[in-house]
Amino acid sequence: MPVLTTPVKKDFSVRGEDSETQQHGSNTTTKVQLQSVTKTYANGTHALLNANLEVKKGEFLFITGPSGSGKSTLLKLLYGQELPTQGEVIVDECNVADLRGDRLSLLRRRIGIVFQDYKLITQRTVAENVTFVLQAQGYTRKEIQRRLEPTLKLVGLLSKADCFPDQLSGGEQQRVSIARAIVGTPPLLLADEPTGNLDPDNSWQVIQILQKLNSFGATVIVTTHDEQLVRRCNHPIVQVRNGTLSRK
Ligand SMILES: Nc1ncnc2c1ncn2[C@@H]1O[C@H](COP(=O)(O)OP(=O)(O)OP(=O)(O)O)[C@@H](O)[C@H]1O
Ligand SMILES: [Mg+2]
Repeated sequence: MPVLTTPVKKDFSVRGEDSETQQHGSNTTTKVQLQSVTKTYANGTHALLNANLEVKKGEFLFITGPSGSGKSTLLKLLYGQELPTQGEVIVDECNVADLRGDRLSLLRRRIGIVFQDYKLITQRTVAENVTFVLQAQGYTRKEIQRRLEPTLKLVGLLSKADCFPDQLSGGEQQRVSIARAIVGTPPLLLADEPTGNLDPDNSWQVIQILQKLNSFGATVIVTTHDEQLVRRCNHPIVQVRNGTLSRK
C-alpha cells in the first residue's frame, strides 16, 4: 500500500540499505517518494504543502482531489517538469532535482506520461504520434512495428492509425495519448486525468488497460476526479486538498 510517510528522520542502517538509498531514505522496493515536498509557483501559489508519499514498485495508486488541488503538480514533480521549492522528490532512488540533461532524459525514458492536455502533434498521424518517442529513443523499425499494432488494438484505435488528431474525437485523442505512454512498456506510468474526456464505458476500458500494464509489473499512478470510477476499483487512494495529501 502507498504510505503517506511522516517527515523523514532516517533509520536506514537498521534496514541495511546501500549508501545511495540511505541518502534518499528509500529502498529498492520504493518507486516514488516525496519527502516534505512544498511546491510554490513563481506567482506565489502554493500547489503542494509539506507532502509526504511513498509508492512501492508494482503498486496502483489513485490520486483524487478537486480542481486546482495540486494533482498535476504532483505528477509534474515526479517527471521533473517542475522542481520542488522545498523537500525531495525521489524516483528510482534518484533525487529528481539532481538530474540534468542525459540523466533526466534517461529517467524520463522509464516513465510513461499521459498528459491532461494530451500534447499530441497535430501534423502527425495517430501511428506517428504513438511511435515518435520510440523512434527518438533509437528503437528499430521492426521493434516499433511489433509494438504499434497491439498497442493501438489495446486502446481501440487500430482503424484510426492513419488519421490526424483533428480527425478524432476528444476521447479518441485521449486514447492516443494513452497508447503513446504505454507503447514503450514503461516501469512507471503517470496518468493525469486519463479518463477526463471519456464516457463511463470508455473510462472503464482505460482503467482496465492501466491495470493490465500494472499486472505486468508497472507502477501506476492515476489522477482523477471520477469518484465513481475510483470506487469501482480496489486500489489505494490518496486525496489532495489545497496541496495537502491524505489517505482515503
Ligand atoms: N505554472 C503555474 N504557475 C502558477 N500557478 C500554477 C501553475 N500550475 C498550476 N498552478 C496552480 O497550482 C495549483 C495546483 O494546480 P494543479 O494543476 O496541480 O491542480 P490540479 O489538481 O491538477 O487541478 P485540475 O483537476 O483542474 O487539473 C492551482 O492553484 C493552479 O492554479
Ligand atoms: Mg490537473
